[in-house]
Amino acid sequence: MSTKKSVLDLHQMKARGEKITWLTGYDYPTALFEEQAGVDMILVGDSLGMCVYGYAGTVPVTMDQCIVHSEAVRRGAPATFVVGDMPFMSYQVSDEEAVRSAGRFLKEASVDAVKLEGGVRVISRIKAILDAGIVVCGHIGLTPQSSGQLGGHKAQGRTLEAAKPVIEDARAIERAGAQLLLLEAVPPEVAGFIRAELAIPVLGIGAGEDVDGQLLIVSDVLGEFQAFTPKFVKKYADLAGVSVAALTEYVNDVRAGRFPEEQHCYRMLEGEGEKFADWTKERP
Ligand code: KIV
Repeated sequence: MSTKKSVLDLHQMKARGEKITWLTGYDYPTALFEEQAGVDMILVGDSLGMCVYGYAGTVPVTMDQCIVHSEAVRRGAPATFVVGDMPFMSYQVSDEEAVRSAGRFLKEASVDAVKLEGGVRVISRIKAILDAGIVVCGHIGLTPQSSGQLGGHKAQGRTLEAAKPVIEDARAIERAGAQLLLLEAVPPEVAGFIRAELAIPVLGIGAGEDVDGQLLIVSDVLGEFQAFTPKFVKKYADLAGVSVAALTEYVNDVRAGRFPEEQHCYRMLEGEGEKFADWTKERP
């Protein structure tokens, strides 16, 4: 097993101009695959609400769900930098609650960092969590937990006037001491400006190429999630198609008597089959 990456390794990757690879992960087997594939970071995103639980959005996701999934991911990817995503209402009410929720991720699931949505308006939460000694990743641009206020899941910063607050948020997050920043659904021009200005790694999902690393949702990458596909997604597999085909074959095999076959059966031990046949003939 290789040594686990720390946030300093991620900073050094930025300094060397090496791209950081980041995927969401929600379960043990996928985390195993991701670590084997050499992914640098895994986000146990609140997107698990849609990708795992079938909710319409991320708002219903609870801390307990995030902890259970983070524990499973940590078991599957012991050497990967794991980020726990703070779900809606785990940090909005007060700094104290934010610290308590962030602390649970570390104590119960051994994550390496926590991510929370928002810029200037959550700076006191970010500082409070940092003061507790926890690595923080900011998340700005399209912030799904407050998509109601944004008028839906829309790209942000697409005009000069709209780009300025995104840039102010990024600056405020770095000034507060956060060690990582995620930009979601912002134009490459804005992302590139922020990446050049900030010393901390700036990662993007739907933010173009000019960032220090890329995040995608693993269920999109593997072609599992079918409800919708954002513009920024590239599918690398069709697990939905493969899965439905395999399950249909199973259903057809059972119905047609093609499964199970001899190699799938536990026959009685040598000599016991005959004894059993004689015994059943006596009809005890
Ligand atoms: O929950 C998640 O996967 C996220 C990404 C959409 C950025 O926060």
